[in-house]
Amino acid sequence: MEQGTITTPEQISPTIFIICGVTGDLAQRKLLPALLSLYTKKLLPKKFKIVGFSRREFTDADFRLFLKEEMHIKRDVYRPEDIHHFLNNVVYQQGQFDSQVAYENLSKRLAQIDDLEFKQCSNKLFHLSVTPSFYETILGQLSKSGLTIPCGGNLGWTRILVEKPFGNDIETAQKLDALLGTLFKEEQIFRIDHYFAKEALQNILAFRFSNSLFEPLWNNQHIECVHIQLLEKIGIEGRGNFYDSIGALKDVGQSHILAMLAQLVMNEPASFDAHNIRKERANVLKNIRPITSRNICESAVRAQYVGYTEEPGVSKSSNTETYFQIQTNIDSKVWKGVTFYLESGKALSENKTEISIYFKDKTKQNKPNILSLRIQPDEAIKIRFWVKKPGFGMQTEPKTLDFHYRDFHAPQSIPDAYERVLYDAILGDQTLFTSTDEIKYAWKFITPIIDSWKTLPLERYQKGSKRPNLNTL
Ligand code: BG6
Repeated sequence: MEQGTITTPEQISPTIFIICGVTGDLAQRKLLPALLSLYTKKLLPKKFKIVGFSRREFTDADFRLFLKEEMHIKRDVYRPEDIHHFLNNVVYQQGQFDSQVAYENLSKRLAQIDDLEFKQCSNKLFHLSVTPSFYETILGQLSKSGLTIPCGGNLGWTRILVEKPFGNDIETAQKLDALLGTLFKEEQIFRIDHYFAKEALQNILAFRFSNSLFEPLWNNQHIECVHIQLLEKIGIEGRGNFYDSIGALKDVGQSHILAMLAQLVMNEPASFDAHNIRKERANVLKNIRPITSRNICESAVRAQYVGYTEEPGVSKSSNTETYFQIQTNIDSKVWKGVTFYLESGKALSENKTEISIYFKDKTKQNKPNILSLRIQPDEAIKIRFWVKKPGFGMQTEPKTLDFHYRDFHAPQSIPDAYERVLYDAILGDQTLFTSTDEIKYAWKFITPIIDSWKTLPLERYQKGSKRPNLNTL
């Protein structure tokens, strides 16, 4: 693999991070802690400011006190003075998301920082840390206020980070893209799927293309089937309103599971840059065999955990799935005939995100070699192979070769996915962000499944089940 040119964030000119919805859970749990971590690692631009933009009333000082309480800060990791210096770079701007005046005030605040502190026009990185129902309003107002216009010349780019779910189906995703397209060029838009930024997921490309031992086997001549699982112990964690309107397939299937699939089976890109990598990932999604009302019953199951409809914010008669399993194929020369099982669920007995590749069993004795790529927790690579059992016979037994990240790397040396997301957005590298084509093909695959499920009964499973006891595929 080639190594691209590295510019360090410290060399980037002054930058302001504007977090819309800064008092919300995502900002407190992920974004601000990631910025703090980058700050302590000296991976932010030398001159930076964070402007929190939200509806509640705070002075800057009160907002910093709020952050000290609410923000998830690993106090055993950071020195108090580092936290203090970091928080001194955070300011607050109150505003209603639909009020034009609020954006005029935000604009004045940003200009003030540029004039008085940076003495130059800074870069602006906007993050929409709000529910998607606010996207249109906020984007429209940002545009009207001129906040998205870069300073021009070599100074002051503007970029936007948008969280998943990106739209609700193909139409809404394309409408959102069209709206974004009126405000930003494609290279300014960073659609987040934080799974791409997970260390063990990025490693898939390194593992495949740096080891001549495995890549020759990465095709339908040698692989029988692939299981991709994202299993969670947690339920919906107080997100009833949001979750009940989307369900498991849209929440993680359309994004994280397909991200893993694309990363796993994409063709080797012409070069390892954002354009070529995203193009190859999109090609995988384009070729997933469609599931429609004709083959839904033998290709997909969905279920809901018992007690889900009692969760706050969830409709008592909800038909939303909290678990799904899909069986599909990829219609390409390389993958024809290989079955892919995609599975995810909440309130299960374990936390496990893993890709297992079952190789063809040439012995025909049901003794496949299995290569497991553990994405989390306990990132690892394991290979199951067969050896002769010591003794006089010729029986074989399975053994495992494994590599665990934790045996070689301290946990803090593995960046959190959001650190990586922000780091790459600052550098302007879109490799780990979803392209408009990937979004389009992902929805194209998911939407007919959701539509077909509408007329089919929903199965149930007990909370804490190992795997739902369903009529599985
Ligand atoms: C989010 C989903 O995108 O990903 C959540 O909305 C899910 O429902 C989460 O729990 C899983 O991400 P991670 O990083 O905790 O594996």
